[in-house]
Amino acid sequence: SELEIAAEPLISWYDRGKRVLPWREEATPYHVWISEIMLQQTRVEAVKPYYDRFIEALPDIAHLADAGEEELLKLWEGLGYYNRVRNLKKAACIIMEEYDGEMPAEYSELIKLPGIGSYTAGAVSSIAYGKRVPAVDGNVLRVLSRFRGDNRDISQPAVRVLIEQELLCSMPKERPGDFNQALMELGAVVCIPNGMPYCESCPWEKLCTAHVQRRELEFPFKTPK
Ligand code: ADE
Repeated sequence: SELEIAAEPLISWYDRGKRVLPWREEATPYHVWISEIMLQQTRVEAVKPYYDRFIEALPDIAHLADAGEEELLKLWEGLGYYNRVRNLKKAACIIMEEYDGEMPAEYSELIKLPGIGSYTAGAVSSIAYGKRVPAVDGNVLRVLSRFRGDNRDISQPAVRVLIEQELLCSMPKERPGDFNQALMELGAVVCIPNGMPYCESCPWEKLCTAHVQRRELEFPFKTPK
């Protein structure tokens, strides 16, 4: 796991070909928050219409805090995991009362809010506020594990914590939000979980441990049950 993350080719690749997504048009803290919560258990293509409708009905944190249960469930209907939208509303009320309606920028404040875990706190803080903090989801774990030929078991929470710490050390000072999104994007469109990844399109093709050894599908490692 000594192999240094090559940020420059990764970010250039992202700049050349990133997907046009509604929440990237104006990456406000609210927009990033709502999209990342929707994307946690749902694919990008399925999220798009829900996201547009949600933002149109509830354009900011104040509207979300005031929304009724029925309206919220209707906006979320079909996405599933309804605790996600209940937590969104609870967090919006806390932001109105305790943060003057302004989404906090710091990871340490965001993580205290209902429904916001380390991934979402990192995503909002880095993408919307430009703070240098990691945002590690399953896609990012897979990308990093293949790149470094990492044999550690990513299903162990302690391993994830270590990977986040290591990633923070290699994060560039410039554009931390785009760096995080480039890792997510690579995991979503190139370094895919099933079937063969599209290594010929990867900015790390020549550097990636798993690809150089033709062992892409052996990573991420999980202890057999
Ligand atoms: N998947 C979840 N969040 C994402 C983001 N911000 N960019 C790309 N893929 C994502």
